[in-house]
Amino acid sequence: MSENKEKIIIKAAVLTMSDKGSRGEREDLSGPAIKEFIEPYGYEVVDYKVIPDDFDEIRKEIKRIADEDIANVLFTTGGTGFSQRDVTPDATKAVCSREVPGIPEAMRAASMQITNKAMLSRAYAGIRKNTLVINMPGSPKAVKESLEVIIEPLRHGIEILIGEASECAR
Ligand code: MTE
Repeated sequence: MSENKEKIIIKAAVLTMSDKGSRGEREDLSGPAIKEFIEPYGYEVVDYKVIPDDFDEIRKEIKRIADEDIANVLFTTGGTGFSQRDVTPDATKAVCSREVPGIPEAMRAASMQITNKAMLSRAYAGIRKNTLVINMPGSPKAVKESLEVIIEPLRHGIEILIGEASECAR
């Protein structure tokens, strides 16, 4: 990326998976934590929803964001663990055509320095059309710790995806 080039505003969507949150029984703190974290880095949150941990509904929302070209990046939060209702990575994988393994690998590797429970996140990242989808764990603390790791290189990847940057120099 050229250093002189003006930074483009990246359109972001935030999707929180929470059965209780979707019924209004629990305030979603992780979705707003993502928004607060990314906005100073030149991201605009254009879409935000709280939905239940439901495989079909998650797939439907990811497809809506990607197929209607609503956002260049979609951050999901929640549903990456081992409970029977934790199906976010599985639903994400089902609708993405290309996997981006390095992003969750980096989040888990760095988070292991903070808590060894980081290995319990099944987070997945992949691309559907022009949208990069990244699963984050479900707590605001885990969200911030995970974003810290990826926020700097992420812009370059998204700019390549949407044709705003050329490939890395070899
Ligand atoms: N990653 C970071 N950075 N910090 C954390 O506190 N918590 C872990 C893990 N990843 C954690 C983390 C825990 S306890 C679990 S169970 C998994 O994320 C899955 O979380 P989820 O089910 O809320 O998605």
